[in-house]
Amino acid sequence: MDHLKVLLTREQIAKKVAELGAQITRDFEGESVVLIGVLKGATIFLADLAREIKLDATFDFIAVSSYGNSREQSGEVKLMKDVDQSMEGKNIILVEDILDTGLTLTYLKHQLIGHKPKSLKIAALLDKISRRKQPIHGDYVGFEIPDEFVVGYGLDFAERFRNLPDICILESDEESS
Ligand code: IMP
Ligand code: MG
Repeated sequence: MDHLKVLLTREQIAKKVAELGAQITRDFEGESVVLIGVLKGATIFLADLAREIKLDATFDFIAVSSYGNSREQSGEVKLMKDVDQSMEGKNIILVEDILDTGLTLTYLKHQLIGHKPKSLKIAALLDKISRRKQPIHGDYVGFEIPDEFVVGYGLDFAERFRNLPDICILESDEESS
């Protein structure tokens, strides 16, 4: 049995995403941006955030090796899919579902800096600050959350639960029995 406990409702998420979009719109006034989503977790956040950004915007996607079916980060990040276009001179906003240890975004940041973008910012819907192993911070962060494993709104456990509209804590059987 899966035990799900709502942590953030769809209404709370929508309000926060609108605020982040407005902030990005102000910060890049008169410029264009490329939203780079980290597959697959960031897709739903990117889709909603993009519609709150009132700027000339394009999308690209990048994929890295993930946790597999476990809850723990292996410590090694591998690029599985690179961006389709050159990012030279572009304003990049790297869009990620959650900042956890920071290994993924630290790796991707270095990877994208190699493209010589004009600017590079990080938008992360969730942030588990207490888990950080690399000194990286998000420029546009939705919610700081406790060290709990969460699913929904794009986030998965073994590829499931991405389609939940709310963000929920996935409790293991031991915790909830
Ligand atoms: P980091 O490299 O440790 O910062 O991990 C970032 C990635 O780990 C995210 O893109 C997520 O795919 C995954 N992740 C971290 N915490 C969670 C969680 O609570 N639920 C689902 N995925 C998570
Ligand atoms: Mg992910």
